[in-house]
Amino acid sequence: SRTQLWGGRFETGPADALAALSLSTHFDWRLATHDLAGSKAHAQVLHQAGLLTDDELAGMLAGLASLDAAVRSGAFTPRPEDEDVHTALERGLLERVGADLGGRIRAGRSRNDQIATLIRMYLREQARRLAALTGGLSEAIASQAEAHLGVAMPGRTHLQHAQPVLLSHHLLAHCWALSRDVDRLRDWDARAAVSPYGSGALAGSSLGLDPHAIAAELGFDAPAENSIDAVAARDVVAEFSFITAMLAVDLSRLAEEVILWATKEFGFVQLDDAYSTGSSIMPQKKNPDVAELARGKAGRLIGDLAGLLATLKGLPLAYNRDLQEDKEPVFDAIDNLALLLPAMTGMMATLVFDRERLESLAPQGFSLATDIAEWLVRQGVAFRVAHEVAGSCVRVCEARGIELHELSDADFAEISTELRPEVREVLTVAGSLASRSAHGGTAPVRVAEQLATLRGVLAGQ
Ligand code: ARG
Repeated sequence: SRTQLWGGRFETGPADALAALSLSTHFDWRLATHDLAGSKAHAQVLHQAGLLTDDELAGMLAGLASLDAAVRSGAFTPRPEDEDVHTALERGLLERVGADLGGRIRAGRSRNDQIATLIRMYLREQARRLAALTGGLSEAIASQAEAHLGVAMPGRTHLQHAQPVLLSHHLLAHCWALSRDVDRLRDWDARAAVSPYGSGALAGSSLGLDPHAIAAELGFDAPAENSIDAVAARDVVAEFSFITAMLAVDLSRLAEEVILWATKEFGFVQLDDAYSTGSSIMPQKKNPDVAELARGKAGRLIGDLAGLLATLKGLPLAYNRDLQEDKEPVFDAIDNLALLLPAMTGMMATLVFDRERLESLAPQGFSLATDIAEWLVRQGVAFRVAHEVAGSCVRVCEARGIELHELSDADFAEISTELRPEVREVLTVAGSLASRSAHGGTAPVRVAEQLATLRGVLAGQ
């Protein structure tokens, strides 16, 4: 027969179709140990309120501990007739301590405040796990940056050659984005550290149960201020979902670059064999599947967020069963990031960069034209004029099929009397890089400092 936590007022049980629709153990079972931790804390406040004797509390805690061990070992699992994680665990408790004692655990709580609490407990744990995995990826990228200090590459805007930059500077740019995602998880955690337990179905408890005690026992900073908000709010889940989507988007942007860099045309990197795949027909192929899956999964995680927000948008207060749909999107996001982050970490750690190619491409595409303009500014020329003069240099070079440094002194003089031969100082990649020495710039001295700063930030996260 079906196990359920309600039924007294019903003449018949639910139709099979409803039971099948309603069932959630296939996804909410991952909250089982959190539900048991909640029950343990709840038993203690029932005891404090005089609703369980010392012996009853001891019996209840022993039963919950035994059930917890059975859940962790896999000896206790939900049955098809258990509606949800709460129902299955109540069955397990009754099996252990009997119906008389086990039947007391539910006083003063509802699945509404339970589930709202459990999802926070679970997500807070997962936030720490994702932060650690993301930190691992940043560390792998930072190590590549450190190993390639001094290597120049073409910096791009609009995917066109723009200005030379250090490869390390470019790599570290991804680390900063990832470190902000980790910051977001930490900031989110402070807002998530509020316990709905004790709110009951929506109106709070009449049994003298202390929500402060449960909140503290479950690792929260405080109980919720409003029982209706506590059971109805899911912004905490939606915000977590946004952070995971943002993280996935940041991984996708990194992935897209790796995909481009690994092409014959770019030729910036070689993927390690362990982090690339072959083709079933083309023997020569080496494909960047890790990066492509990262790019693909970003779309999926954006969908998880969009779906969750759509679920929430029309819901009146307080609890509605629609809220059961909050879990699968965010579990999907977590599970996919937990697969993706280690693979991305391995891929980035094992990338082999072609230093010579990066260096030789760095000055191409007239990427030092800005340096000519800024050299002129330092000679007292207005930037408007300097920009025109540097542009003329590019036009002459393009017509003749040469690079900027190949212009003769006579060419320079003909383009502008301001262009003295000393302008050649900045027509080297090294000169250009070194000149961008303001805070945050790509000068080697600044990038070395930046790497140390980032390492400090990562250590603090
Ligand atoms: N399984 C539900 C959820 O995930 C919690 C149960 C509340 N059910 C109810 N009929 N009030 O949100």
